[in-house]
Amino acid sequence: MRTTLIAGNWKMNKNVDESLQFAKDLINMYNTKKNIEVLICPPYTALYSLGKKFKGSGIKLGAQNMFYEESGAYTGEISPDMIKNCGAEYVIIGHSERRKYFGETDEIINKKLISALKYNILPILCVGENLSQREKGQEKNIVRKQLIEGYKNISYADASKITVAYEPVWAIGTGKNASSDQACEMASFIRTTISEIYDYEISEKMLILYGGSVKGENAAELLGKKDIDGALVGGASLKADEFIKIINSGSKKTGDQL
Ligand code: PGA
Repeated sequence: MRTTLIAGNWKMNKNVDESLQFAKDLINMYNTKKNIEVLICPPYTALYSLGKKFKGSGIKLGAQNMFYEESGAYTGEISPDMIKNCGAEYVIIGHSERRKYFGETDEIINKKLISALKYNILPILCVGENLSQREKGQEKNIVRKQLIEGYKNISYADASKITVAYEPVWAIGTGKNASSDQACEMASFIRTTISEIYDYEISEKMLILYGGSVKGENAAELLGKKDIDGALVGGASLKADEFIKIINSGSKKTGDQL
């Protein structure tokens, strides 16, 4: 059985004080579970203090992005070693907001994946189509291309460490989530594509998350689907009590005690 991963992507929200307050609230409400990983991806500025705060709590830390170079004259950028040194075990790569507002291409995303893996940081690769692509029925072609280019030159052993998050752009921050059937269809398409690039075994072991307007009230239905192993949660991860509802929906999937 695959584990379930519930990840919070705070985007550009919460200063250090607010992050620490959230961490305190979440730790108070959260009991470590066997088959669930809980992950918080705060802004860079809060990584170090949350790394300390989460130590021993069972809650994992991730960054929302990183640069692929190791060090040097790249003003404003953050390296894999820097995020790892703060305690980050995961990094989100290729989020649609990075693709849209910061011009990240599949080629850049591929370099970031390779660099994260070199530093033993677990990448969460985001893929997904926008509204006009979905309306034209192109969602599978788009996601397939993002996967093929994203995984370029990545060895079998490294590929097995990547989690993929299917995040249809039209569902992000809009309050309109993909239906559980739409999300599951794309998750199983991602599994098939990875089995074509690598093999069946890796595609069955890998985690596939759904992201896009996941909230307490729709999490159980989305997570109930066989090919969906967790959620990447934006807005609803900003409040500890809402986020814990999503974690509890994940517990129902794995049969963990609440
Ligand atoms: P949302 O964001 O949950 O606010 O839709 C999800 C994401 O962008 O990862």
